[in-house]
Amino acid sequence: PFEVELKKTGKTLTVPDDRSILETLRDAGLQTSSSCESGTCGTCKTRLLSGDVDHRDMVLMDEEKDDYIMICVSRAKSGRLVLDL
Ligand code: FES
Repeated sequence: PFEVELKKTGKTLTVPDDRSILETLRDAGLQTSSSCESGTCGTCKTRLLSGDVDHRDMVLMDEEKDDYIMICVSRAKSGRLVLDL
């Protein structure tokens, strides 16, 4: 598990090993946009403020990977991710 901090919402959620960030946000009652939920469509692109991301999508260009995360598939490598949500 790892934590995601939602900067605008002012919440910190724990993402279990068997749930995606997207599912965890929904479980917490937050509105999220998604479509493929497999890291290919680009709909769930979310601005990343800080954190060490394990990028698992097929969408982001290398130069975007410091600033964005696809929350349907990608996870934290370690520690906590801070998202602009
Ligand atoms: Fe399609 Fe995440 S919902 S890339």
